[in-house]
Amino acid sequence: MKPKNCLIFGASGQIGRNLIRSLTKNNIKVTALTRNIHQKGYMLKTQANPGYLEIVEGSIFDYELIQKLFSDADLCVNLVGILFEKGKNNFKNIHVEFPKIISRLASNFELKKFIHLSALGIENAKDSIYAQSKLKGEKEILDNFNKTVIIRPSIVYSVDDNFTTQLMTLLGLLPIFPIYYNGQTKFRPIFCSDLTNSITKVITDDIREDIIEFGGPEEMTFKEILEKLLSLIDKKRLLLPMPISLARITAHIFEFLPKPLITNDQLRLLKYDNVLSGKYKSNADFNFNCSSRFEEEVNKYSYMWKNEGEYSKKRVN
Ligand SMILES: NC(=O)c1ccc[n+]([C@@H]2O[C@H](COP(=O)([O-])OP(=O)(O)OC[C@H]3O[C@@H](n4cnc5c(N)ncnc54)[C@H](OP(=O)(O)O)[C@@H]3O)[C@@H](O)[C@H]2O)c1
Repeated sequence: MKPKNCLIFGASGQIGRNLIRSLTKNNIKVTALTRNIHQKGYMLKTQANPGYLEIVEGSIFDYELIQKLFSDADLCVNLVGILFEKGKNNFKNIHVEFPKIISRLASNFELKKFIHLSALGIENAKDSIYAQSKLKGEKEILDNFNKTVIIRPSIVYSVDDNFTTQLMTLLGLLPIFPIYYNGQTKFRPIFCSDLTNSITKVITDDIREDIIEFGGPEEMTFKEILEKLLSLIDKKRLLLPMPISLARITAHIFEFLPKPLITNDQLRLLKYDNVLSGKYKSNADFNFNCSSRFEEEVNKYSYMWKNEGEYSKKRVN
């Protein structure tokens, strides 16, 4: 069968790299647009067999270029997303304007499917600009193109994430670790390959559903996640609840950094549980296999954060 062509925006990120592997194994060719081929080319090239991946350098706002890319595509996946704003890379441009442009193109070029990565919990987080921009972007897309599937995952983890790996690094460095809202915000961490294999199934099984929520098998509070990571890297740390007024001041200082550890908008978002709402269908309704367990998967790479690194004994679950 002739392979389909899938155009991916944001392919060099955590979810994108895993998705390229899953799609290309399923006989789907990928075209990946990146802002910087010199920086991202090597991490993209190794994800697919020869002939299955084309990498294009350019801006997501270069209308002529993306129009040309759409003319060769059967499918499109949008994974472009930001957690903090810097100059023109603001929530409005990235989460609303760009999805608006490409969903119109998906309609004009009569694509077979358009998949857009959003996030869980955005309907409740009315005071978060990130969440509200994601919500507005979803609406624009659904208005523009009816063959859209919006994917709303909880936090995604893998060996190449910015979540467990960053937390283990910080837990290794800091004797006292600040927690916000007493660490009681709930998550349903989902393993990255479970998510990306499911996205592939949405395409190959031609699933039609406006919004699908995704969560892993375990509901965990932020504090429980930290405790699990500490136990996996054999470290003891004081998890200290930080008053929100103080957290706001530190977040304000972090906002001056090129890549802030946390911003005030993320602080607001953290107030809301990141769990399945029950209002939409979820991975369970489609029998997608998202059963990987947090401790078991993180144990496969967390030994590098132990004091003896690769020489440490791996934990047997
Ligand atoms: N990971 C999670 O835990 C999680 C949870 C819920 C929702 N999501 C959503 O899932 C999507 C993918 O997440 P991810 O974790 O894979 O993201 P990521 O690792 O941060 O990667 C983001 C991607 O977006 C692209 N990008 C960012 N700003 C851009 C800009 N101004 N212009 C062009 N490209 C830009 C980057 O591409 P280049 O640098 O190559 O151009 C990069 O490949 C996002 O929409 C995110 O909000 C993720």
